[in-house]
Amino acid sequence: MAVTQAELEKASRLLQEGEIVGIPTETVYGLAAAITNESGIRRIFFTKERPFFDPLIVHVASLKMAASVVSEWPPLADFIARTFWPGPLTLVLPKAKEISSLITSGLETVAVRYPSHPDVLELLKLVNVPLAAPSANKFGRTSPTTAEHVRSEFPNILVLDGGPCSVGLESTVVSFIKDQDGCEVIEILRPGGITQEAIKEALKKWSNPVIVRRANSQASPGHLEHHYMPAIPLVLLRTDQSFQDVREKIETQLKHRFMNPVQLELNEDPAQAARELYAQMRKLSQAPADLLFIKMDDQKTGREWEAIWDRLSRAATARI
Ligand code: TXA
Ligand code: MG
Repeated sequence: MAVTQAELEKASRLLQEGEIVGIPTETVYGLAAAITNESGIRRIFFTKERPFFDPLIVHVASLKMAASVVSEWPPLADFIARTFWPGPLTLVLPKAKEISSLITSGLETVAVRYPSHPDVLELLKLVNVPLAAPSANKFGRTSPTTAEHVRSEFPNILVLDGGPCSVGLESTVVSFIKDQDGCEVIEILRPGGITQEAIKEALKKWSNPVIVRRANSQASPGHLEHHYMPAIPLVLLRTDQSFQDVREKIETQLKHRFMNPVQLELNEDPAQAARELYAQMRKLSQAPADLLFIKMDDQKTGREWEAIWDRLSRAATARI
């Protein structure tokens, strides 16, 4: 399944010419453009039908490359980067002036990530320019975790097939701020592959106290209430409800009579549940299924489930 040298070279050439390419990462597949090529960046937004207010993540293949896209590299960010990179963590930092405001949606900050997937690292080294890449799906829809998912949505784009994603949910996005007392704060803008606990654990080796907390929902542009949506409605049920109990309520609310409801069930292991979630959502949403439902689960509530429920609640059309 490994990507060949010839494919990498072709992808690199296309990126330099301002084309976009589907890339594997350990979290989800991305739709990449070279950050130095404005027409490539624009093409990402048009292809995804993504609004320009939703900023892109810049992918790098070294700490040095990361430092080149920011204007400040604070010691705490350096410590966090060295602890978790390469991996599913994105750092929001003040942007270097060369970074196009198209990428950052006019913000003074840029989101940077050093992914661990070997194929994207090879590609980055070959292109030798950071790559802006959102998840490779139409705006608002379920993210892709295989090359096939990307090809089915974008048949005319070259996709490097790096196999199924090992994490399966997007990276954790964090920003660095100070509270009123001057204490450093790491705010989690989007929960993801790295949990809040893992960040707190790592900070035990850091010299100063740091507060780690979830940001309020407005802090991350583009992390919208409705996102990651499958092709058919998804409904979240309480643990004690059966579909039959609430069928009428759902049908009234969604103004539709559902003939083939299908249940989505999560694996007991949170890492496995995350890995297979998006593929399951896509597979179960195929005809004749016309509604997906999932039961909330009191057993699946720890920090390691946080990103999964975050995505499911945003993907849901209704909560009963
Ligand atoms: O795992 C991932 O992060 C994947 C893979 C492809 O790397 N990428 C991804 O990109 O999930 P995307 O575009 O689907 O989500 C990026 C999100 C934006 O919606 C926004 O919430 C946040 O990252 N973001 C980007 N730049 C930001 C900034 N300057 N300030 C705050 N949030 C930002
Ligand atoms: Mg996305």
